[in-house]
Order: sequence, then structure tokens, then C-alpha cells
Amino acid sequence: MPRSRLSVIVTRKLPEPVETRLGELFDVKLNESDAPMSREQLSDAVKHADVLVPTLNDRVDQSLLAGAGERLKLVANYGAGFDHIDVQTALSRGIMVSNTPGVLTDDTADMTLALILAVPRRLKEGATLMQSGKWEGWSPTALNGHRVGGKRLGILGMGRIGQAVAHRAKAFGLQIHYHNRKRLHADREEALEATYWESLDQMLARVDILSINAPHTPSTFHLLNARRLKLMKPSAYIVNTSRGEVIDENALTRMLRSGEIAGAGLDVYEHGREVNPRLIDLPNVLLLPHMSSATEESRLEMGEKVIINIKTFADGHRPPDQVVPSML
Ligand code: DGY
Repeated sequence: MPRSRLSVIVTRKLPEPVETRLGELFDVKLNESDAPMSREQLSDAVKHADVLVPTLNDRVDQSLLAGAGERLKLVANYGAGFDHIDVQTALSRGIMVSNTPGVLTDDTADMTLALILAVPRRLKEGATLMQSGKWEGWSPTALNGHRVGGKRLGILGMGRIGQAVAHRAKAFGLQIHYHNRKRLHADREEALEATYWESLDQMLARVDILSINAPHTPSTFHLLNARRLKLMKPSAYIVNTSRGEVIDENALTRMLRSGEIAGAGLDVYEHGREVNPRLIDLPNVLLLPHMSSATEESRLEMGEKVIINIKTFADGHRPPDQVVPSML
């Protein structure tokens, strides 16, 4: 049973109310500077803390966990995705892992829709033209994009966020198609007017816009490889607000450059901050800096979830958002 005042180490700066509450409840060490922790600092943290609060920037892998102290009992991730944490190794060492699902769903779905609208309608090119000061006024042939209503949206990954995207997209007149490990319950499918495709390959060949809403796991790594990307129509658009690793970024870049894919809206990248430079200058590509869930509201609610997970654990119960093997 953990001691009453747990030692909690937080790897990044969190919203002020979250840090204050953590400080009231626990013996907390914050990261005032907000610089991501070095490997050495992380190793030191897992040696001395009861609870580590990492973010997606920290690799909590096998070798880091191998050096963890006896007292480390919970990795309370500040974020929904946990692909940066070796959950199997943590569990085998008696370390629980929790995350913050649910509170980012609507914000992420909103941003996904923003990209679904922005890319076919050439928003970036329009904004760039205005900023250049070279706009010569309205013209019947300038910057014509493609209508979104009536098009087929394929959603890869129909969990909470995928369904929230479908719900919004339906209101814009998109036809909803999806591929998921598990088919939705018939009532849910009916409510979303969604068509299920057991075969991802077959769905890809038929959609006009593809939204990636699947987590990064060993089975989704490069799920969109060159072969699958080639199944898509050259007029199709791709939006990814999930994890960059699900797409082979080099293959996508080549196909965007050669016109085999019409455009893309990306918030996440295969190699994190190391974005393929050949993507950056493309007019038909709108790139965002992993900000789909970035609202003041979600960041506070994520913090609340972290606090509840740690506090519940401190009280001797399982954290409500515990990551369990069936989720891997
Ligand atoms: C998460 O929580 O995993 C999100 O990607 C952060 O935006």
C-alpha cells in the first residue's frame, strides 16, 4: 500500500490549477522550465518517484522501466495515447499505467473536421494569397476547390474520436464509411448512418476523404503503406489527427508530390517533430503542430483526470482510467 503522501514527478509544465492541486495532494516535483526531460532526468525520476506523470514526449520504454525504483507503482500519463509507454513491461514489473481518455474527444474531432473542410476547399492557399498581399480580387476560376457535401468519408478507427468525427461529418452532408477492428453496434451504426467495411483495402478504393482516427499500435504501424495508399483515388484527400506512425510518411509525401493523392491535412507525423521537409512546401498540404486537442478546457480536464487517477490509486483503488492489456 503506498504511503499517504505520494511522491509524484511531472515531466512537463501543466496548467497552473492542475499543478496547484497536485501540490496540495501530493509531494510533487514539477517541471518549471517546461523543457522536455532528458533521458538522464527521466531515469532519475523513475528511480525516485512513486508516480510518474509523463506526456507523449517521454519514451517510457523497457530500458527506462528496467531502471525504475521499487517504489514506482503508477505511470499516470497526461494524454490519451499511450504508444510511448511500454505497458506490457510496466505491468510485468507491477507498475500500473493510466491515461486521460474522453476529455480530448470533441476537440480532436472538431479539428479533424476543420482539416476535412480546409484541405478540399484550399484554405491554406487562400490564406497564403491574402498574406502575400497579391490578391487581385474575386474571379470565377480562382482557387476553386471541391465540395465536401455528398462525398464519401472513410474513417479508419471508429472509437470515441472516430464516432465524434462521423457525428459532425454527417451534419456536413458527408456519407460515412468506416473500418474498425470491431463493427459498431447496429443502433450506433444506424444513428451515424455509417457503412462498415470489413476490408480496409476495399474501403480505401471508394472513399473521397480518409480520416485516420486509429491509435498507433504494432498492428496499425504503417497500416497505410505504399500499397494501400495506391488503392486510393488520385482525387482523394487524407486527414490524420491520430498518430503519424499509422501512415508511411515517405510514401504519402511521394504520392502527394506526384499527384497520386490530391491533398492532406496532417496534425501528426511519423517521426514527431522531424517532419519530412518535402511535405512542408506543398500547397495542397495543410500541416499543424499536433494541436488537435489543444484547448484550455481539454488541458485542464486532462489534468483533472490525472489527479483522479493518482488520488484513487493513493486511496488503494484501481485508477479509473487504468490501461489494461485488452486495450493494447
Ligand atoms: C493524446 O493525448 O494522446 C493526444 O495526442 C495529445 O494531443
